[in-house]
Order: sequence, then structure tokens, then C-alpha cells
Amino acid sequence: MRVYVPMDAAARALGADDVAEAIQTEAAARGVDIALVRNGSRGMVWLEPLVEIATDQGRIAFGPMTPADVPALFEAPATHPKAMGATEDLPWMRRQTRLTFARTGVVDPQSLSDYERHGGLRGLRRALDMTPAQIVAEVTASGLRGRGGAGFPTGIKWKTVHDAPGPQKYIVCNADEGDSATFADRMLMEGDPFTLIEGMVIAGIAVGATRGYVYTRSEYPDAVAQMRRAIAAAHGAGLLGASVLGSAHAFDIEVRVGAGAYVCGEETSLLNSLEGKRGVVRAKPPLPALQGFMGRPTVVNNVISLASVPVILDRGAAAYAAFGLGRSQGTMALQLAGNVKYGGLFEVAFGLTLGEIVHDIGGGTATGRPVKAVQVGGPLGAWFPPALFDTPFTYEHFAAAGGLIGHAGLTVADDSLDMLAMARFAMEFCAIESCGKCTPCRIGAVRGVETLDRIRAGDAGAIPLLTDLCATMKAGSLCALGGFTPYPVMSALTHFPDDFIPRREAAE
Ligand code: NAI
Ligand code: SF4
Repeated sequence: MRVYVPMDAAARALGADDVAEAIQTEAAARGVDIALVRNGSRGMVWLEPLVEIATDQGRIAFGPMTPADVPALFEAPATHPKAMGATEDLPWMRRQTRLTFARTGVVDPQSLSDYERHGGLRGLRRALDMTPAQIVAEVTASGLRGRGGAGFPTGIKWKTVHDAPGPQKYIVCNADEGDSATFADRMLMEGDPFTLIEGMVIAGIAVGATRGYVYTRSEYPDAVAQMRRAIAAAHGAGLLGASVLGSAHAFDIEVRVGAGAYVCGEETSLLNSLEGKRGVVRAKPPLPALQGFMGRPTVVNNVISLASVPVILDRGAAAYAAFGLGRSQGTMALQLAGNVKYGGLFEVAFGLTLGEIVHDIGGGTATGRPVKAVQVGGPLGAWFPPALFDTPFTYEHFAAAGGLIGHAGLTVADDSLDMLAMARFAMEFCAIESCGKCTPCRIGAVRGVETLDRIRAGDAGAIPLLTDLCATMKAGSLCALGGFTPYPVMSALTHFPDDFIPRREAAE
């Protein structure tokens, strides 16, 4: 009997370790021979810990499981009260297009042979038969854009590094996932680390880099451990080292752990931190693509951007580009969180409307109250009211609607949410996380908190001041932290002006 219990941090937080232990104890007591695999999560967080049992008809899902539910698994699994049927047939799974996350939750994340059995390394093997310029052209043709949030074309970034002269170049994976409601990077690293390794090796071959770094945060200890185990296994199997799969290419990867400052997710602060310096933003230009880590040409890509490369090389650029809408091609790993009935990770082609995502996939709010707003793109993302729920999920449509998709984290809120409090939170977050390098952000965020407190206290004259301040922060900040904080503030003010009416006035 082959049983799967996720080792994903969210599943563990919900009791997966206890369930795994109960399964082993029960099997031993009954003398049943089982193979227990600690896989990644399938992304249905409301069903975690989700246990799966392999059968001739595929894997059968049970969830959310507790240790008390375990004995019945060994008696009559078909009539188990937590039995959900075949995992692949669950509506949440059927509606997805899993390209980047095809193996997450399926494979044993510690087994390179299991990875290969499920299509792993096919992309790299194809890349090894191509010239670096051909690989770059393939990634460009796929339409892949930076999944960390900015959406810059990955192929163009790679071409800049490919064309830059230099004896040493680097691949830096930005795994410093700091946005609220985001967990795609973590889930991928914990559930399918070899896909990230394969993507980084392909990137290295494409641009002529021999060394890669995965920069992540101390809040992700499970991802760090899983990545380090996978890198050691990749070394043992000749996937990393002086000769990648017996080729003339060398590539090595190291995991570096930052202390978890939000601004270290910004690429130039990240590079400073990686070099052992304080995580302060550097002015651009020079672009990291030309002068990045240690002043050398460097590709800085998000986890999901790099992890999407193997499937692009495997299936071809055209197959990937066939998904999506307009210039937003391929798939995006949506992360649904906050006050939502079905929270989790859902990979789908660009183009669903926000309303479909929140209601059809997320099931509306967990409280059952009406949805008031959804914040898209982390703490720097705009709040979208239901009036904008027909906005298709693409880089372009969200920008046109005054927002951004960012890293595709969505925080759902019901009608009890106080939007002035949310605007204040955004300014306070910026004040706390600011690196202090530029004035609009360092001082503006503090003044923003004070101004919102004045509005709360009844000073309606402070509203134009807030608007002015946001315009200054947006135009004058050096990086996205100060420059994008106005999005949640101004969207809250624009779409929910009643929440900003001073209490005294509202009471009259
Ligand atoms: P950006 O627009 O300045 O740059 C995007 C990327 O393109 C950078 O890597 C830049 O170096 C590169 N680039 C630009 N022109 C280039 C050229 N000609 N050749 C080669 N490379 C070039 O955006 P930035 O400041 O890097 O990122 C902002 C985004 O980060 C926001 O949209 C936000 O959504 C996102 N973000 C994501 C977070 C997360 O947790 N994933 C946290 C905070 C923000
Ligand atoms: Fe630093 Fe804020 Fe300026 Fe960014 S906007 S450089 S975080 S002070």
C-alpha cells in the first residue's frame, strides 16, 4: 500500500506530521506493509492534511485528515467519511492547467528518479542539444514574463546577460517570497525542488553562467532543507557539478538564507544581501543583467519564472505560448488567501476574470458574507471592488484597471473590512519595511500613517493631502516598495470613499 502525506509547510502546520505518524503506527499494529511518501501539497489547503492512497484507478484523496480518522483508512477506505474520490477528478484539480506545478504534490520531492519518471530533465536534455542563443530564443518565443511581479520578458533579460561580456556570470533565483497571500515559491521548492534546479541549470547554459544562488528567507526552513537535500542529490547524480549530465557545461547551486526583510525581495537589495552587505536598494542603472552579483552580469529571476523553463523547453515555446490572453502568455499560479472558502494554489492560463477566480474557484468568503474587496498582488497591490470583477487576470488588464497582478497573491475580504484601516496598514507596512534610502518612502510612509490618523480623527481636509502624498511617493520613490504603496491606499480611497468619511460626519 502506497500512501502519500504532504510534507508541505502548510500541511504540516495543519497536522500532517501527526497524521503521518498515526498511519505508520496503525500500519505496524495491523502488520500492513506500507510505503509512506511525504509529497508536496496539491494546493487545496482547506483539505490539508490531504492523504492519498495509490490504487489501480489512480490516487484516492482523503481530507482533511486527523489522527483519529486514520484507523478507518485501513478498514473500509471506500466508505471512509473523509473519502473524496480520485484526486485528479476533484473539480479544483480538473479546472487547472498544471504546467509549472505539474509534479508538485505528485512526486516524491526527494527522489530524482521519481522526478525523471514524471518527465523531469526532458527540458534540460533538449537544451543540451541546442546552442545558448537557441535556448534564449525559445524562452523569448514562449512569451514567459517575470512571475515575481514585474512581468518583464524573461527571454529579453536572458539575452542581455547572454550578450554581456564577462568571464563570470551568475543565475540568482529570487525566492525571497514576501508578499502577503503568496506561497507559490515555497510550495514549488518544498514539493518539486528539482524543477527549480533544472530551470536554473538551463538558464546557466543559456547565458553562460556556471554558478547559481537560491536566495530565500529564514521563515522558510522547510523549503531551505528541501532545496539543500535536492541539490546534494543532484550533485550525486551528475546533474550539478563540473559536467552537467556528462556535457561540457558546469553548473553549481548554493542556497543562501536572508533574515526576512521585505525589501530584500527587491532584486538590488537582494544582491547586496547576497554579497554580505546591508539589504539596501541600489539605483538602476546599472541593471543587474549587466552589473549584478559581485558586479558581474546576473540573471535575477523569481522561482516560478525559472521553474516554468523546463516545461517550455520540453514541450516547445509554441505549446506554452498557446495558453493565456494577449501578451500575458502561459499560465499563472494563483494563490487564494484571506477570507475565502477554498484557499490554495490554482495554476491556470491567464484570462479568467477576477470574479470567476473569487467566486467559482475560491467559493466566495469563508464567513459566507458578501465579498467587499480583493487585494491583488500583495501588500503593494490595489484593492478591487466587485464592480471590477469582470477584469480578466492579465498583466495588461490589471494595469489598465489601476492595479497589478504582482506575484498573483489574492487576499479576499468580506463586507466587515474597514478600508481606512487597510490603507493605514499599507503605509505602516511601508514605514516598517522601508530601507531608508530615499525620502518619499522613508518619510512619506510615516507621514502617510499620521495623515490617515488625522482622517480617522475627523479631519476631512487631510484627504487631499493624502492624495498628494501618494502622488509624490509613486513618482519619486526609488523602488516598488515606496512607489507601489500608493496602490492599496488610493484604491481603498477611490473605491470605498465612505470608509474615509470622518466618523463624526458619518454619524451626523
Ligand atoms: P522593474 O520593472 O524595475 O524590473 C523588472 C525586471 O526587469 C528586473 O529584473 C530588471 O532588472 C529587469 N530589466 C528591466 N529592463 C531590462 C533590460 N533592458 N534588460 C534586462 N533586464 C531588464 O521591477 P522590479 O522593481 O524588479 O519589481 C517590481 C515588482 O515586484 C512589482 O510589480 C511587484 O509586484 C513585485 N513584488 C513581488 C514580491 C514578491 O514577494 N514576489 C514582493 C514585492 C514586490
Ligand atoms: Fe528604500 Fe523605500 Fe526608497 Fe525603495 S522606495 S529605495 S525601500 S526607501
